[in-house]
Amino acid sequence: MAAVDQGAGPTSVMDQTLFRAKDLAVTYESSRGPVKALEGLSATLGQGEFLSVLGPSGCGKSTLLKVVAGLLKPTSGTVTLAGAPIIGPRPDVGIVFQQPTLLPWQSTLDNVLLPIRTLGHDLAAGRKKAESLLKLVGLDKFSKHYPNELSGGMQQRVGIARGLVHDPALLLMDEPFAALDAMTREHMMLELQRIWMAARKSILFITHSIPEAVFLSDRIAVLSARPGRTIREVEVDLPRPRTLETMADKRFAELCNELRALFAELVKFDA
Ligand SMILES: Nc1ncnc2c1ncn2[C@@H]1O[C@H](COP(=O)(O)OP(=O)(O)O)[C@@H](O)[C@H]1O
Ligand SMILES: [Mg+2]
Repeated sequence: MAAVDQGAGPTSVMDQTLFRAKDLAVTYESSRGPVKALEGLSATLGQGEFLSVLGPSGCGKSTLLKVVAGLLKPTSGTVTLAGAPIIGPRPDVGIVFQQPTLLPWQSTLDNVLLPIRTLGHDLAAGRKKAESLLKLVGLDKFSKHYPNELSGGMQQRVGIARGLVHDPALLLMDEPFAALDAMTREHMMLELQRIWMAARKSILFITHSIPEAVFLSDRIAVLSARPGRTIREVEVDLPRPRTLETMADKRFAELCNELRALFAELVKFDA
């Protein structure tokens, strides 16, 4: 995908829009009647940008991710990727779901290789990439294990390796670190920043964690409670690469406090 590969890179200004969501609405039909998950949501992601979508539980974050992934058709509104409407899953997009969603009858390595097989990419090269990613997520000794032999956090790390194995230009991540213990989470945050800076990927990262969003993002789109729409965008002006010391930084605390205050207002409004 040439249009996607010409990324401006994480350090330069965002001069090209990779995806654009405009007036997005999603209403689910359920047995209890229609459920409005998103309404009037607009957002953009620049080439090479790290954007977090931050919002309370149930506000429609996973719904947004499914729409951008081409897995769910919006009720109204448009989403374009590299200028073209998203009409289904694409090979240049990687997805890390909120749940690991591994195939229970396949080993760790085979689960990571799934996108390589589905896309018909070279298996030998894919296996090398999968092995290096498993090392990255600390699971190189578990490549022959099956999902039921792994903890929840380990399964999630397999899911992260699988999302990256085909080297997608755009990575969609749905609360990927929520199930990890605090130490692993900090390690994965640093690793994700490293991968993003080295590989010039564009990342749409969904989270309900304020410090995680501040640590990782160039920009944070804050969603309202359901039905979700963007109520604020916050630029994160902390220098890169960010380190664990960044979290002790005055500016880091200021940004976290600003977002906390915003959510406190939201909750008041909701009550
Ligand atoms: N398939 C579905 N059918 C009916 N309601 C759904 C479905 N999926 C999600 N919802 C509802 O839509 C709202 C948004 O869900 P979701 O996008 O998963 O939120 P989040 O990821 O922010 O927690 C929630 O109220 C949820 O219960
Ligand atoms: Mg969710």
